[in-house]
Amino acid sequence: MERVRTQPQPQATVPAVPRVFSGIQPTGLIHLGNYVGALRQWVELQRQYESYFCIVDLHAITVPYEPAELQQRILEAAAANLAAGIDPERSVLFVQSHVPEHTELMWLLNTVTPVGQLERMTQYKEKARRSKHGVMAGLLNYPVLQAADVLLYKATLVPVGEDQVQHIELMRDIAERFNKTFGETFPLPEARLSKGARIMALNDPTKKMSKSVPGSYIALTEDPDEIRRKVRAAVTDPGPPAQGARLEDASPGVANLFTLLEVFAPEAYPRFAEAYTDGTIRYSELKQVLAEALVEALAPIRERYRRLVSRPDQVWDLLRHGAERARMVAQATMEEVRRRMGLRGA
Ligand code: AMP
Ligand code: TRP
Repeated sequence: MERVRTQPQPQATVPAVPRVFSGIQPTGLIHLGNYVGALRQWVELQRQYESYFCIVDLHAITVPYEPAELQQRILEAAAANLAAGIDPERSVLFVQSHVPEHTELMWLLNTVTPVGQLERMTQYKEKARRSKHGVMAGLLNYPVLQAADVLLYKATLVPVGEDQVQHIELMRDIAERFNKTFGETFPLPEARLSKGARIMALNDPTKKMSKSVPGSYIALTEDPDEIRRKVRAAVTDPGPPAQGARLEDASPGVANLFTLLEVFAPEAYPRFAEAYTDGTIRYSELKQVLAEALVEALAPIRERYRRLVSRPDQVWDLLRHGAERARMVAQATMEEVRRRMGLRGA
């Protein structure tokens, strides 16, 4: 007993340089929303920070899925990340289930996570409502696994789309409660939102662009004619607004096209913004400019993606190497966490 009391508490090891962590689910084709809201930021941030990007397969299995297809989906998600510019030399790109510490930490964090807070998560409520065969505990605990993902690396910068902000606030609460109960261990993570943190579906701009709704998205690897067709078919207004209209008040479909224009054709943006307030805008023209800008921006990504998926062994090697690097950090954090929770002697 005496020995324990006089032992100094283990010092929290906080990384000297902020770390970046983010994840993407291997649930379907990666689309423009993922790219604008998340991936594009990841590519920027990796230049400056130690970065961890994770294909979150254990999150993907919380909704009905096809086991025989999961490995291919993981490969495609990894290839899309690499094709979009994630550099495996700079960043640690890996598959969540290859690092078992994620699930161990999740269990431990479950003990400091109020069920009531999980039940209040918007995404949980939505998915639970849509679920046809009852609600499984994995769906409820999804955000606890997400907290474990980030806290395992003591990451503080979490670049995501707007739909993830609530999950990140929850992981801050979990980290704070852990720190209060067991001693200062985790720095508090923060969401990093980019412009276009919420890209809407082109065919129904009141809903967000989503992998699980075919027709709602333009895949990052879409072929040029499909891109043109989908942009042409995007929902806008029947005609231009009255003169003096403000872009802030534009309908969701028009606003969405302007967001995309600002990202992919910034030089054309002011001209169309002016035409909008003048009431002279022609949406068909805007769509044409936007479609060509998208075709041009996505062409190299599509090309790299095709090359990568034709060499799956290379991608799997990269992912295995990534998991080894991730594990070094994950194991160190778990040692500290187990000690603090009394699961190991000091
Ligand atoms: P998911 O496809 O749910 O795994 O999401 C991966 C990342 O893309 C997360 O950071 C999301 O917030 C982001 N994301 C997904 N859909 C959109 C969207 N429609 N607009 C902006 N960001 C999005
Ligand atoms: N839940 C996130 C999404 O659907 C994916 C994710 C899992 C994530 N773990 C994460 C995002 C950790 C940021 C940090 O988009």
